[in-house]
Amino acid sequence: MSLRTSGSVLVVFLWSLTGVQVQHNMKQICALKGSSVDLPCPIIYPTWAQITEKVWYITELDGEPYDLRWDPKYEGRVEYLGTKEDDCSLRITDLRETDEATYKFRYKTNSGWIVGSNRYTITLTELKVQVSGIWSNTLTCSTTCDLTDKTTYYIWYKNGIHLNKRTSSIYSKTIYNQDAGSYYCAVESSLGLHSPAVCVGDSNCWSVTYTKMRMCVLKGSSVDISCTYNHPSSYIEQGSFWFTPEKFYTPFDLCSGPHYEGRVSYNKNTEKKHTLTITGLTERDSDEYKFRLITDKTDGRFSGFPGVILTVTDVFLEIDPTSVSEGGRMTLLCRTTCTLEHIPEYIWYKNGQPVTDPVTSYNRLIIEPVTSTDEGRYSCAVGGLDDLRSPEETLTVRYKPKKTSVSVSPSGEIVEGSSVTLTCSRDANPPVNKYTWYKKNVASPKASGQSYSITNIRSEDSGEYYCEAENEYGHLKSSVFVDVQYVPRMPSVSVSPSGEIVEGSSVTLTCSSDANPPVNKYTWYKKNVTSPKASGQSYNITNIRSEDSGEYYCEAENKYGHLNSSTVSLDVQYGPKNTSVSVSPSGEIVEGSSVTLICSSDANPPVDKYTWYKKNVTSPKASGQSYSITNIRSEDSGEYYCEAHSKIASKNSTSMLLTVAGRQTTVMNAFVGVTVFLLVLICFSGFMCFRWKKASKSTADTITRHTEDYGQGDSSPVYDNISSMEMTSTAAQTANTDNQEDLYYTSIHFSSSKNQEVPLYCTIQQSHPQKQVEEVQYAAVKFNCPSAAPR
Ligand SMILES: *[C@@H]1O[C@H](CO)[C@@H](O)[C@H](O)[C@H]1NC(C)=O
Ligand SMILES: *[C@@H]1O[C@H](CO)[C@@H](O)[C@H](O)[C@H]1NC(C)=O
Ligand SMILES: *[C@@H]1O[C@H](CO)[C@@H](O)[C@H](O)[C@H]1NC(C)=O
Ligand SMILES: *[C@@H]1O[C@H](CO)[C@@H](O)[C@H](O)[C@H]1NC(C)=O
Ligand SMILES: *[C@@H]1O[C@H](CO)[C@@H](O)[C@H](O)[C@H]1NC(C)=O
Ligand SMILES: *[C@@H]1O[C@H](CO)[C@@H](O)[C@H](O)[C@H]1NC(C)=O
Repeated sequence: MSLRTSGSVLVVFLWSLTGVQVQHNMKQICALKGSSVDLPCPIIYPTWAQITEKVWYITELDGEPYDLRWDPKYEGRVEYLGTKEDDCSLRITDLRETDEATYKFRYKTNSGWIVGSNRYTITLTELKVQVSGIWSNTLTCSTTCDLTDKTTYYIWYKNGIHLNKRTSSIYSKTIYNQDAGSYYCAVESSLGLHSPAVCVGDSNCWSVTYTKMRMCVLKGSSVDISCTYNHPSSYIEQGSFWFTPEKFYTPFDLCSGPHYEGRVSYNKNTEKKHTLTITGLTERDSDEYKFRLITDKTDGRFSGFPGVILTVTDVFLEIDPTSVSEGGRMTLLCRTTCTLEHIPEYIWYKNGQPVTDPVTSYNRLIIEPVTSTDEGRYSCAVGGLDDLRSPEETLTVRYKPKKTSVSVSPSGEIVEGSSVTLTCSRDANPPVNKYTWYKKNVASPKASGQSYSITNIRSEDSGEYYCEAENEYGHLKSSVFVDVQYVPRMPSVSVSPSGEIVEGSSVTLTCSSDANPPVNKYTWYKKNVTSPKASGQSYNITNIRSEDSGEYYCEAENKYGHLNSSTVSLDVQYGPKNTSVSVSPSGEIVEGSSVTLICSSDANPPVDKYTWYKKNVTSPKASGQSYSITNIRSEDSGEYYCEAHSKIASKNSTSMLLTVAGRQTTVMNAFVGVTVFLLVLICFSGFMCFRWKKASKSTADTITRHTEDYGQGDSSPVYDNISSMEMTSTAAQTANTDNQEDLYYTSIHFSSSKNQEVPLYCTIQQSHPQKQVEEVQYAAVKFNCPSAAPR
């Protein structure tokens, strides 16, 4: 069901597209030459389709119907009746033999061209008076075909006078002598078109027959209007002239009219034939021209009526459409107001110059597709009369903006801070009515108007700018690149590798700067150094030294200027160096004095730990930058050195030799040696004596025995004890230099257990000048105690 429906729709559709109509109803139309005919519209209104174009045509030109309205053979004679919506009838006026043809119609709808089903074939005929009958004459107004217009009546004229009778085509009348005269007939609907006059009852009668009823001639040319005439033989021709009845109530010879002066001539070469020639025709000469015959009798004047209608036409150019969009189609029609006798050739001009192929046999020139170059003033002329050109008509081509370009002012380089104007130039018709400025990658428009000014331009304004020119036919973009140039800005220095820089490594400084045009010269400076260190974007410092520490900056330069970067400081780290030991006070070191050793070292970062060593002593002696030795003894003599330690490296200093000098060393030693020997001797003898006494006693004291155990040992252990005691007391003294209590305690300890060492100790104490009195005093106590008790 649905399939069938769609199938039938499809058939109709195809049928419409191809424009093929199966049946054509051919209609015959018989009409009088010179009359008008209306060809009925072959389609019934209202139509189901929307008609956009309709064309009456006979032939096709270049594969498409040649609209009769544009056909020079129908110039001024065809008219489409009705409007698009209600009718499509065609009226043809002033029918002539060349109009005998088949007239077709087609119309255009949304779905294409459709051919009208009816066609009309026009046959033309002329009225002719036929005289028949023997007793009474029967006049018949005959035609060669049956006039399609059946409703019309026939009118008869005798000697040019309307007989005021409506009849059929047959007029029966007995012609008596008084009825003799010239007869002609006409149809009521076209009174101007009558048959040639026929003389009835007399061989000579009044008649004027114009060669042509209508004439169409070009302005500036000349025309011959001629007629043949006759008059009854009883009249004697005395003169003749041509006149235009509209201008004068009484016929008035053209020759005497001021308007025709010098342009009119009569020619009467042949018997009963007269020719009027008018030269230099103007449009004012368009009129009805009649011939008047004058005879010797006052009633013997006769004018040929109706006269010859002369139409003087200009040539004019019609452009359809006058304004066309680019790519469209344009038809130029070289037109006249009436149909010329002979269809001339047409010559085309553009801007006063003949166009490429100037001569066409048709009156139209089609330009398709139209381009903007087709714009111009056009005119046409008809062949043979080159001087008669049509007025110029201007063809405008509407096109979307083209050839837009953006110009930048001032031209040349754009430097930051300057002002720049971008101007969009265009070529468009109709003119551009809107300009919009865009910047690439920026969605919103920047400005509107033909020019766009940017004052105090910044580098951020660099980029591609578009101008969009728009008219009602479209828009076009064109772009320009704005390159804002500027001096180097914000140069910065980067250091590679980053992090700590250790002496001996390599460092690269890189200068980067935004500049346009790019930086073409980099110069490297170090602060407080006047001369540049290097050039080039990178500055390599290989095997960097501590002296290279400092602040660096670069100068970036392009042709607009130069700028210094902020500084970057290089802090070259290195392990301890020049580690050395100094001694304070300087000079000779006397035993018992105090000495401070100071370790100095240059390091970056600074030394975090100092360790003191003495040569041939494995364990460190001390730590800290300075090492004080109080109450120095000769044993302290030796080579000292320090180790400076930083997180980068450690370094041992060269060693410093300490020599401790004793005071009057030899005299004292001799004295002490002798004294000690004597004291030992005394003590020993005393001790032996005491032991001997005590051994006789029965009771024995533990302490004494203990002492005795000690005493029983040989001299070597004693000596060892003494020397070890010495070491201890020395160490104690170093730690607590002025601690007399401690010293005192030690003394007591010695005195109770080891009487022999005390004197030795005391002796050494005597070498201290400041404490000599006390020590001596103290020493005296010691002496008294052990030696006095046994004694
Ligand atoms: C540079 O010299 C100035 C004085 O001339 C001084 O104050 C400054 O510390 C010096 N800077 C360096 C890194 O040497
Ligand atoms: C500087 O050092 C970098 C990295 O080691 C190297 O690529 C570059 O070529 C060096 N430049 C110069 C001038 O020696
Ligand atoms: C950059 O520093 C160098 C050296 O100090 C100096 O000669 C130059 O004029 C400075 N350039 C600028 C732009 O300040
Ligand atoms: C390091 O020692 C050398 C040689 O003794 C000396 O020339 C230099 O000035 C010293 N450097 C420092 C920073 O003390
Ligand atoms: C340290 O020891 C070495 C051998 O081990 C020796 O030659 C040198 O004399 C000693 N130095 C001192 C001060 O004892
Ligand atoms: C410095 O001397 C000490 C003791 O002899 C030793 O342990 C250390 O390794 C030395 N340091 C250096 C850097 O030679």
